[in-house]
This record gives sequence, structure tokens and C-alpha cells, in this order.
Amino acid sequence: MKDYFGYKDKVCVVTGASSGMGRATVEMLVDLGAKVYALDLNPCTVEGIAEFIQCNLAKKEEIDESFNKIPEHIDSFFGVAGLSGSKTDYRTTFDCNYTANMYITLNYLKERMKKGGSIVYCTSTAGLEWKKFKKEQNKVVHAKTWEEVEERTRKLASSAPATFAYMYSKRCLSQFACEQAVEFAKLGIRINNVLPASTDTGMKQEFQDMIGSEEALIAQTGLAGRLAKSEEMAYPMVFLNSDMASFISGLDMVVDYTDTCLKVLKLKKNLEAVSATNPIICALAKKMMSKAGTKALPDGKE
Ligand SMILES: NC(=O)c1ccc[n+]([C@@H]2O[C@H](COP(=O)([O-])OP(=O)(O)OC[C@H]3O[C@@H](n4cnc5c(N)ncnc54)[C@H](O)[C@@H]3O)[C@@H](O)[C@H]2O)c1
Repeated sequence: MKDYFGYKDKVCVVTGASSGMGRATVEMLVDLGAKVYALDLNPCTVEGIAEFIQCNLAKKEEIDESFNKIPEHIDSFFGVAGLSGSKTDYRTTFDCNYTANMYITLNYLKERMKKGGSIVYCTSTAGLEWKKFKKEQNKVVHAKTWEEVEERTRKLASSAPATFAYMYSKRCLSQFACEQAVEFAKLGIRINNVLPASTDTGMKQEFQDMIGSEEALIAQTGLAGRLAKSEEMAYPMVFLNSDMASFISGLDMVVDYTDTCLKVLKLKKNLEAVSATNPIICALAKKMMSKAGTKALPDGKE
């Protein structure tokens, strides 16, 4: 049978490889014959991977050390690791979700990928409204170094709740992907995003705690009536980075079982259309969270 996906012997790097969507992605890639380099804070126990590399993606030096252990040529990158912000501070959350992907893409993937290479980032439906808030994101998305991003998010990191880093980082990543898809297209390398709706992964409990209960989390899934399974997000990521998607680049693939349609048709309230950086909104959110007993950690504390 023809190998339609074309992953046989391809070097694939997956972040967030130890749990949820990242782990499901690794399992599929191993099945499809890829050489998988699995990056995560925690061990990845999937059998058949080329190597597990322990890495805290919120630390630039650890990313550098990790990429020293990865082959010079990379075929596909899956940026899946992410943090909700409910247990980590703003800085860590933002850097894991956004800065790490920016840094890896500009410093390693641009050098180590050739024509035919492919990149997919796992953003979120929480970042769906990024086009409306480009002005808020521009200064960060147009920063080209780790230090510049850190500098341009310093004020937010000390004033906004860490859970706001989630929405902002995902919006920045979607915009970054759109802008870099244009640059990388000139090199023959594709970049796409998958925007998952609520999914039953290691992160579920954190979102559940934020929203109040499992029933409330399921209720906001709309017509699906259930959370997605990890593999239902791995399928589109594996597809987008495969030969089957060779003419797809610059796409925001929303995986939400019609939830966005409901919002477009005004059959459901769009709660994502709020600023992620407005100081008044951030201060109000922080106050509400501390009243409700939700952690809104100041910079530097976990
Ligand atoms: N679960 C959801 O409802 C949902 C919805 C939309 C988007 N997402 C996104 O999906 C992606 C995958 O998350 P998941 O839902 O599978 O959750 P998960 O918690 O099961 O997996 C996340 C993985 O990222 C790793 N990780 C976290 N911080 C890290 C760091 N600093 N360095 C290295 N690894 C780190 C964790 O160890 C874990 O293995 C994330 O980017 C998340 O934001 C999740």
C-alpha cells in the first residue's frame, strides 16, 4: 500500500510528548514509522521512540541543550506542550506556550529544515480571536529574540493573572504562525495551527477547576456534548504535517465540532472576544480570582 502520510524514517520532534495530545501524536508517528524525538518535562514512555529528551521549554538554555541532542536535519515539528496558567506563573506559562515555539522555529527549524519540512503548533480555541487583537500582539510577535519577548511581556507578567497568559500566548502563537507561514513558504516549509476545543487530557482538571465543575466544562462543548479525546487532536496535527497536506500552509484548523459555527451564527455567546492585555480587565480578573480563591500568581512564584 502507498505510504500516503510519508512519515517513514522522517525525523519528527514533538514537544509535550508525555501526556494528552502530545503523547497521542507520538504514538501515531511511531506507528507510521517516524523517528520521534520526544521533548517534555516528564518522561515519555511510548515504546519505539528514537529518544526522550527531558526539557523545560520555559528555559531557553534547556531548549539549546535539547536541540544539541537532536539530528541536524529535522523533517517535522509538533509544538504541542502547553500550560493553562492555573498552576504556574505568568512568565512560565507564556514562555512555554509562546516563547519556546518562537525560539525553536527561528533558531533551529529555519536552519535544520529543508524544502518539504512541516511545522504544526497546538494553540487553542481560547486564541481564536487573534485577528481582532493583532494590535495587542504585534509588539510580542514582532520580537525576534527570547530576551525581547521577555522584555515586552514584563509588565503583564507582574500585573495580569497567569491564566490570562494562556489566551494571550495562544493568540500570539496563531499570529506568529500566520506571519511565519509566509516567510517559511519561501523556503518550501509549511506552518499550520491546530486550535483544539476542550479535550480530556492531563489539563482537564485545571480547566474544570477554573469553570467550576465537570458538568459546566461539558456543557460549554456545545453540540459535541463531550470533551474531545487526545487522539482526536493528534489526528489533525499528524495530518497537517504529513504529505497529505502538502498544499496546506498558514491554516488555523479549528477542531471544535461546530462550536465556532454556533458563535458565528450567534447561537452561542462568544466569551473569547475580550482583551488579554487591557490593564483594567486584567486587574478586575485578578481581583475576581483572588475572591474566588483561584490562584493568580505574581511573577516568579509557582
Ligand atoms: N486540554 C484542553 O482542553 C486543551 C484545549 C485547547 C488547547 N490545549 C492545548 O493542547 C496542548 C497539549 O495539552 P494537553 O491538553 O494534551 O495537556 P497535558 O497536560 O496532558 O499535556 C501537556 C504536556 O506538556 C508538558 N509540559 C508542560 N509544561 C512544560 C514545560 N515547561 N516544558 C516541557 N514540557 C512541558 C507536560 O509535562 C505535558 O506532558 C497544550 O498546548 C494546550 O494548551 C488543550
